[in-house]
Amino acid sequence: MGRASCVWAGGRRLLFTEILIFFSVMKTQSPNIPLSDNKPLIKWVDKMAALCEPADIHWCDGSKEEYDLLCEKMVLSGTFVKLDEEKRPNSYYCRSDPSDVARVEDRTYICSNSRDAAGPTNNWCDPLVMKKKLKKLFRGCMHGRTMYIIPFSMGPIGSPISHIGIQITDSPYVVVNMRIMTRMGKDVLDSMGDKRVVPCMHSVGAPLEVGDVDVPWPCESDPANKYIVHFPEERSIWSYGSGYGGNALLGKKCFALRIASCMARDQGWMAEHMLILGVENPEGERTYVAAAFPSACGKTNFAMLIPPKSFDGWKIWTVGDDIAWIKPDENGCLRAINPEAGFFGVAPGTSYHTNPNAMESIKENCIFTNVALTDDGDVWWEGMDGEPPSHCLDWRGNDWTPASETPAAHPNARFTAPAVQCPTIDPAWEDPHGVEIKAIIFGGRRMTTMPLVFEAFNWSVGVYVGATMGSEMTAAAFGNIGSVRRDPMAMLPFIGYHMGDYFRHWIKMQRRIRETPRIFHVNWFRKDEEGNFVWPGFGENMRVLKWIVERATGKAKAKETPIGYVPHYADIDWEGLDFSKSEWDSIMQVDREVWKREVVMHEELFLKLHDHLPKELIFERELLACRLF
Ligand code: OXD
Ligand code: MN
Repeated sequence: MGRASCVWAGGRRLLFTEILIFFSVMKTQSPNIPLSDNKPLIKWVDKMAALCEPADIHWCDGSKEEYDLLCEKMVLSGTFVKLDEEKRPNSYYCRSDPSDVARVEDRTYICSNSRDAAGPTNNWCDPLVMKKKLKKLFRGCMHGRTMYIIPFSMGPIGSPISHIGIQITDSPYVVVNMRIMTRMGKDVLDSMGDKRVVPCMHSVGAPLEVGDVDVPWPCESDPANKYIVHFPEERSIWSYGSGYGGNALLGKKCFALRIASCMARDQGWMAEHMLILGVENPEGERTYVAAAFPSACGKTNFAMLIPPKSFDGWKIWTVGDDIAWIKPDENGCLRAINPEAGFFGVAPGTSYHTNPNAMESIKENCIFTNVALTDDGDVWWEGMDGEPPSHCLDWRGNDWTPASETPAAHPNARFTAPAVQCPTIDPAWEDPHGVEIKAIIFGGRRMTTMPLVFEAFNWSVGVYVGATMGSEMTAAAFGNIGSVRRDPMAMLPFIGYHMGDYFRHWIKMQRRIRETPRIFHVNWFRKDEEGNFVWPGFGENMRVLKWIVERATGKAKAKETPIGYVPHYADIDWEGLDFSKSEWDSIMQVDREVWKREVVMHEELFLKLHDHLPKELIFERELLACRLF
């Protein structure tokens, strides 16, 4: 990406007075005074500053004033556009570098001491070799930039399930996003005591040249120089060369999943790629479930589901939409928190039809990245309600009309929204003790084979179901149509150690639990012979969810099949939906011949993991085969 040699704002040259304001903003918001007297922390910050040679150091206090000043600074530098205050109060628009729009799995590394500890599903590099490489890249990388120190808590401050991280970054975009996505600032430092914290080192990469003030969305231009690196034994993270959320907001995938999965294994808890929701029945009883679906299978929609009108008195409460930290309490109940404080949701496809609660959550105080910018200062994306605008600027800043051949928003365009703005946010979402999980749901996108819903016979069968879950490739995706990409527990890109050991950890967790949650599998995506989806999905998924929570609380009936328990047609509440018994049968069918092939396919992943695979999963596969053959 080329360097800007002058200051631009939204594509126009800045006036002299604006430049003066810009420098005064930069000055007033750079307190180079440590906000902590924690000696190891100060020593680490000094060491990183000596390595990166920033122009300035800013300890983030997490205040609104600080957030506003940073946003203002980014508006002046052209990174942010302030959206219309009436239409989208206190919200900002941002475009990334066109090459920096998604997580980079092939540049993501688990640098454990041994290759074997990372397992065959992770990229691995010797930690000493990687450290050397990173030090070289980070040396002097913050010239001309401010180095921000971000103290953050994953989970409510002080919760026995929460953990603290400190991120260093040279990206103000990262700072303001971290303020929405985590609990961030001085309160975190004050609560730190002598707790072990996870150091997270980040730079967008390319250093500025003398005379440059800022470039909108800088990032390393050479894709081979992007590194998202985890040191599991040291519990540290180094990320270089990308400003995109999943690579740069290090509290999220890097800490809350990859590093936390290692901590959880060592400490007897679980860090999972799961939403958490509460189902309230008309009697006011609330049952919480956690659900894992691979990326882009509708986790945010499910977490914010609105029951059909006929479900009078039923309500869904949202605790989290992406990550769950789950820990047994002193009574052996599994309790979960959402370690995040915001939603980093995919915008395209989000509408009042698909997810009204998400639309309400993003009305104000948000950051929009890589969506389209309308002429009246608002945002737009494909799949939003109503007619497309007759003109807007697309995610690259080019003129766009409905006749354009490319989408206006990038398919991975995102909104960053505070979780409290969700109308269905659960009253207990910040309870430091978490909510009690009664059911775990796995799901995938399968056109065939998998019924709409089934319940695993027990915990180890449930672990087998999670370990073998996956999604079918569609014509648009890479790979062979119909072949299944296995994504165990939706954690394929997020397990920070050997996947076989992760399965073992899941099996062993049951020993710590007194009331084992029931495990279910759902598939909203089964198709008929003409290729049409049979199940209406969205709010209608409530009918399945109701059966799930009633099973988990011992109230609903089921029948046995070779793969697990399933509801009879009559066990589902059909009020308000015309869905025939024959349609039901078509999506509930467990075809023995198809399933025999499915079990053979499970072997492929198991062979890859064979020397670390827990014997329980080998036995479960044998038993499943015995029930089918
Ligand atoms: C996400 C993902 O961004 O899973 O949440 O990719
Ligand atoms: Mn996710």
